Amino acid sequence: MNEVMQMIRQHRSIRKFKNISLTSEQIDAIVDAAQMAPTSAHMQPFSIIGVTDQGLRKKIAVHSKNPSVEKCGYFYVFCADLHRMMLAAGPDQQEKMGRNLSYSYFYQSAVLSAALALQNANLAAESMGLGAVIIGGINEALPALDEWLGLPDLVIPLAGLAVGVPDEFPEQKPRLPRSAVFFENLYDDDLDLKAKVERYDREIEEYYTARTNNKQKASWSGKFISMLDKDLPLGGYTEYVKSKGFDLK
Ligand SMILES: Cc1cc2nc3c(=O)[nH]c(=O)nc-3n(C[C@H](O)[C@H](O)[C@H](O)COP(=O)(O)O)c2cc1C
Repeated sequence: MNEVMQMIRQHRSIRKFKNISLTSEQIDAIVDAAQMAPTSAHMQPFSIIGVTDQGLRKKIAVHSKNPSVEKCGYFYVFCADLHRMMLAAGPDQQEKMGRNLSYSYFYQSAVLSAALALQNANLAAESMGLGAVIIGGINEALPALDEWLGLPDLVIPLAGLAVGVPDEFPEQKPRLPRSAVFFENLYDDDLDLKAKVERYDREIEEYYTARTNNKQKASWSGKFISMLDKDLPLGGYTEYVKSKGFDLK
């Protein structure tokens, strides 16, 4: 197996870091790797904000309930960005462009492209012997995050990436069996798929009870059933996205 494959297969999220800041070379190398990700129509519809202000990092850590935001060696915020590509246009053109960009099609393209950049950054950090964790919890700090980071319309924060020198080496989380995820020609939604999920539930239950840190009694399906079988107050998030110019029409 080549080195890239070996590294990808070694992945685990790291949430505990040594008190060591990243060097400026490391910070830049991770951003350069993010920028080399493919993007829809070469739009490059993402921006990355490095948060070095410790007070701000603490606020984001508290809001997102992720202490690693404060305690990591460097913290990046990955944003979908359809603002920059309009800067060279005149006011009339900008208005027309904005109308088209408010289709959910472009929102999806921007989010997908930003996600690929984020994972490039994640892998780049791991390849440099660093650890990292993606922080979707920054959404808990919306809409305040817009003001803290000075984000204009058509720029919305999607996730953070906390990077640093690892101070833990957690067990890897088992994945679903390949045959429950990978299909050829036809999606295979038969009884066998349900049986595979149930078998995986038992496997992950064992993993959660046996792992070193944060032991818990939970299955994979059980987690999502208890998360989703109630009314979640997430309408505000949709309103926020729309308020930034992504009308999702
Ligand atoms: C979109 C996204 C959001 C995430 N948000 C968080 C988060 O807020 N806090 C956290 O500790 N981990 C977060 N994670 C990391 C996942 O919990 C982790 O990738 C998953 O449990 C699998 O574990 P592994 O990465 O160690 O294999 C996030 C991952 C993704 C892709």
